[in-house]
Amino acid sequence: MSYEKIKKTGPKGLPFIGNLHQIKFDKLHQYIENWVDQYGEIYQLKLGPSKFTVITKPDIIQAILKARPDDFLRLQKMDKVLRAEGVHGVFNAEGEEWKIHRKIVAKGLDVKHQQQFFPSIVKTLERFYNKMENVASRNEEYCIQNDLLRFTVDVTTSLVFGQEMNTLEQEGGIIQEHMEKLFPVIFKRINEPIPFHKIYRSKKDKDFDIAVHEIDKLIDQFIAVGRERLELNPILKLNPDNLLEAIIVAAEEEHLFSDKEIKGNLLTLLMAGEDTTAHSMAWAILLLSQRPDIQDKLNEEADAILGTDSFLNTYEKHSELSYTEAVINESMRMKPVAPLLLIEASKDVTVKELQFKKGAKIILNSRKGANEDVNFSSSKDFNPERWLRKTDHGCPMHNLDAYIPFGSGPRFCPGKNLALLEMKLILSTISKHYRIELMTPFDEVHEIMAFTMMASDYKIKLVKRG
Ligand code: HEM
Repeated sequence: MSYEKIKKTGPKGLPFIGNLHQIKFDKLHQYIENWVDQYGEIYQLKLGPSKFTVITKPDIIQAILKARPDDFLRLQKMDKVLRAEGVHGVFNAEGEEWKIHRKIVAKGLDVKHQQQFFPSIVKTLERFYNKMENVASRNEEYCIQNDLLRFTVDVTTSLVFGQEMNTLEQEGGIIQEHMEKLFPVIFKRINEPIPFHKIYRSKKDKDFDIAVHEIDKLIDQFIAVGRERLELNPILKLNPDNLLEAIIVAAEEEHLFSDKEIKGNLLTLLMAGEDTTAHSMAWAILLLSQRPDIQDKLNEEADAILGTDSFLNTYEKHSELSYTEAVINESMRMKPVAPLLLIEASKDVTVKELQFKKGAKIILNSRKGANEDVNFSSSKDFNPERWLRKTDHGCPMHNLDAYIPFGSGPRFCPGKNLALLEMKLILSTISKHYRIELMTPFDEVHEIMAFTMMASDYKIKLVKRG
């Protein structure tokens, strides 16, 4: 299909502003999905001066994601916005630069490092368990989302920086309070047609500046500690313990990274590892609260695999949590935290007979396809069984091309295994000890898009299992 033909399909907009007046950005993904029913799987959207081709067709999405880094880039406006805030790392790098960043980041997040830092991850898990025990024994309503964010930051900092932050046991003034100011503002700046913040700074912009400053200070501290450790123990230069050390060594010995790139990558990992994993867990917990029958099965699996232990404390055992993993997959099929990927053609290119001009902007929405019966049978049902390797679950349609919560192709998420590990650790601990009861009416919990798609605040009770 030619660009000329795509141009004619899509919601009718107004001169200059295009479709801007028809959209609320914190629900952008939903608008995009709803228009598919009217305009089909490929259509055009105009956000102010920028035209975007929206694509929800799984085979085309896959083909585009796999044609990176040569034929497609991340949206260059996103790179501009991120770089303006010092984020100069693997997520927004391109070409040869991306290859260098990617190699070192993927190594720092690999299974070997997860195994090596597992004892420290378990220490964080134990803190979380203690908090849940306190809340449950007092029969309190619990906003678990905040602690999920603390858990993911503590895990990322121990694995990636080799430093324990223990935000789970801190009161107030914690890094998450700054982190939560970042994503909504970054998402807004990527989407706003005119950089209004350069003309007028709102309270949100000012809070954002403070947050960036505080996080920057924290990253500097991490780097200083990392440098000191390498000074005191030069043998680490031959075999760095973690990603922070590896990146410092690569910068100093091989001049592969500038200071900006060291910081940019650390900030990238802090940001990429926090929200995504925490909100994915929050969605799973919310969906489980509506399904006592599925909780029964999780309880059973946790009892069988954890035995007399309060939480999983042997790395190898996580692969035995197959039902828990099926629940996670199913939850991410229905509530992927990254339902939109913003892409740009790096040259004139044709993909599956779709022609794109250099610089053509594309919004890929993967959630739509993952929630259609042509790709997943009875797609509106929350049915973890469909992910188990057996044939009697009544779900013949199972198109894995349509399931990409972690992206696809050479730039798929390098934190996938770590995220799955974290989610299994938390869900198995909850399942071993508690039943989840939702205290907020389910219908009042809604999706908020702010770079990641998160659930609005909700409260649960953790009821101790008899
Ligand atoms: C459930 C949790 C997570 C989800 C759903 C998720 C999802 C994603 C998605 C959709 C992408 C874009 C992939 C693409 O363009 O094809 C991505 C990229 C990335 N993620 Fe994750 N992510 C998660 C957790 C993590 C964690 C824990 C880390 C590290 C601590 C991480 C680090 C990254 C990085 C560095 C990239 C950029 C990769 C590149 O451009 O080469 N993510 N993630």
